[in-house]
Amino acid sequence: MAVTVIEVRNLVKKYGSFAAVDGISFEVMKGEVFSLLGPNGAGKTTTVEIMECLRTLTSGEVRILGMDVNKETLKIKGRIGVLPQDFNAFDFLTVKENIEYFGGMFNKSLPADDLIRAVDLGEKRDVWFKKLSGGLKQRVGVAISMVNDPDIIFLDEPTTGLDPKARRDVWAVIQELKAKGKTVILTTHYMEEAEVLSDRVGIIDHGRFLALGTPHDIIEQFGTGSRCIISNCDDACAQSLKQQWPGIERKGGDIVIKLENKGSLPEIIYTLDRSGGNYEQIQVTRPTLEDVFLRLTGKKLHEEEAPPPTEKKGLFGRKKKEKGVA
Ligand SMILES: Nc1ncnc2c1ncn2[C@@H]1O[C@H](COP(=O)(O)OP(=O)(O)OP(=O)(O)O)[C@@H](O)[C@H]1O
Ligand SMILES: [Mg+2]
Repeated sequence: MAVTVIEVRNLVKKYGSFAAVDGISFEVMKGEVFSLLGPNGAGKTTTVEIMECLRTLTSGEVRILGMDVNKETLKIKGRIGVLPQDFNAFDFLTVKENIEYFGGMFNKSLPADDLIRAVDLGEKRDVWFKKLSGGLKQRVGVAISMVNDPDIIFLDEPTTGLDPKARRDVWAVIQELKAKGKTVILTTHYMEEAEVLSDRVGIIDHGRFLALGTPHDIIEQFGTGSRCIISNCDDACAQSLKQQWPGIERKGGDIVIKLENKGSLPEIIYTLDRSGGNYEQIQVTRPTLEDVFLRLTGKKLHEEEAPPPTEKKGLFGRKKKEKGVA
């Protein structure tokens, strides 16, 4: 049976009169990967840091493993793991020494070598933290977040600023955590990351949820449906298609048809064959979380892949000074 490990009810966090988190509610079940997905300033870090007992809430209720964040702070901290946004460790300690240092803060900790193996850093065990690439540093951060063998692990933007390969390596580590039955709370700017890793996603902007559910359900609910694109379509093809689907869109030489049901595609192919015209290829596209986000917020979103080494670039192009990740 599903066990609820996080309960957030009508959470509000105000800084002065500004509501950074504006009345959100959600639950997370044991073993889930739950992602908060949203642009810079959406309220992701504020929300997770309240769950981590690092910030106080203005109103509402937050319970972690059944415990109230206002009352059982120390107990909660012992049972969660945290990779903060802009994580950093000691430059002149090795990977192993850093993990052991953080392990020493808890009554009980897992052996550093086991954690090093879990994040696949065996070859870097005795290398200074300073000498590691951004992706490897983040993997040290994930290892440190696991040092007290927590039930819930919070990873605040674990892949921001990493190149595609390093990002996917961190994904593999997160998938391993899930396979071990850990509950993972992830914050991210990256649509694809949320879609690939998460059981459920909360799309957040201006401190409120715009959508909450499995990536599949969100796409079903808010997506625009699948589309068929026929590229380099000549006039004969276009005319025949238009007779049957008056609402088709023309984009340059391409034709775009919204697929109403499974039967539409064979009908389109049949119509094209009968038209006697020419076309290059037929493609079917399914909406993504990114399309949903654009539709809900009207904001243009781009997923940059390899930012320059000394800065992070946010979802909407705002540049963030990088602290911990090189
Ligand atoms: N200590 C603070 N005092 C005043 N305002 C704050 C404070 N911390 C955060 N804010 C504001 O609250 C809003 C939410 O910030 P938060 O850091 O939670 O967003 P975020 O979604 O994590 O953004 P990012 O993707 O940039 O990390 C922002 O407008 C931010 O400027
Ligand atoms: Mg943040």
